[in-house]
Amino acid sequence: MRITVCCTDTKIQRWLDGLRAALPEADVQEWRPGAAPADHAVVWAPPQQFLDEQQGLRALFNIGAGVDALMKLRLPPDALVVRLDDAGMSVQMAEFACHAVIRHFRELDGYERDVAQGKWTFRKPRSRADFPVGVLGLGVLGRRVAQALAAFEFPVRGWSRSAHAVAGVECFAGSGQFDDFLAGTRVLVNLLPLTPETENILDRRTLGRLRPGGYVINVARGAHLVDADLIALLDSGHLAGAALDVFRTEPLPAEHPFWRHPKIVVTPHTSARTLRDESIAQIAGKIRALERGEPVAGVVDRKKGY
Ligand SMILES: NC(=O)c1ccc[n+]([C@@H]2O[C@H](COP(=O)([O-])OP(=O)(O)OC[C@H]3O[C@@H](n4cnc5c(N)ncnc54)[C@H](OP(=O)(O)O)[C@@H]3O)[C@@H](O)[C@H]2O)c1
Repeated sequence: MRITVCCTDTKIQRWLDGLRAALPEADVQEWRPGAAPADHAVVWAPPQQFLDEQQGLRALFNIGAGVDALMKLRLPPDALVVRLDDAGMSVQMAEFACHAVIRHFRELDGYERDVAQGKWTFRKPRSRADFPVGVLGLGVLGRRVAQALAAFEFPVRGWSRSAHAVAGVECFAGSGQFDDFLAGTRVLVNLLPLTPETENILDRRTLGRLRPGGYVINVARGAHLVDADLIALLDSGHLAGAALDVFRTEPLPAEHPFWRHPKIVVTPHTSARTLRDESIAQIAGKIRALERGEPVAGVVDRKKGY
């Protein structure tokens, strides 16, 4: 069995070593132009030339949960596209989202400013009932985030394409229920995949439907959000703030207004990092399952794009 590894912007040697250790029966090589055809590929942002040369691949394993960049390329027609299915990311996303929600709800940003000036202040406790949290996407990450927020006793609602039932979470589905979902949400956490249907979904209309004093946490993809619309709604006072971890251009360009906006907290796409050892174990397990002819989780539906 041949496995080719083509990961740009990644320290590849440790992936090669880990995959070789996990799959000693396989010939694991870094891809070079003109390399022999492989059975499986482990990829991150591969060039089109890689895909054009490796048309016989049976499966492409993306070392991230989001496959939006991969789906823009011309893929081998018969290859399964398999994304990371949690692999240690959901707990990171849950802690990141809970931190962002709680930091805003408990006004910890205000306390940090006061303490920095040597001020011992108190703010009036707020009611959780006034801070319903809405999670966009109830997949592997969104569901975990929604459940973690519910454990802190926030009223939590979630929205997905198909109907879901999640304990402690009021679930909404499809475009017909989107406006109702938004109208009852004050803090919005975005965990949708980026597809043609979800691009620019967070715009003036949708964000304008959030309850007054809304707060936006974008941990999915930058292209979900219309940057200028967010700034307009922050400046008008309809939105109280935003925590943004993902951007249309990354790294976020130095001149981008998000860096300096007083109501925006920027983090450098770090909410849920790919964990190498967990990912290698998951990919190796799935390669073995496919070799035995068994189904695997995390296969991308090419029509839906996620
Ligand atoms: N910032 C980071 O560090 C980071 C790290 C990892 C992932 N991410 C992002 O997080 C995203 C979600 O990951 P995941 O593993 O949770 O994905 P997932 O398991 O595929 O879940 C996607 C969810 O979004 C819903 N959805 C998709 N299209 C929709 C639409 N048009 N309308 C309504 N709901 C829709 C799906 O609905 P159904 O359940 O009905 O299919 C599903 O509930 C990734 O695609 C990636 O962009 C970011």
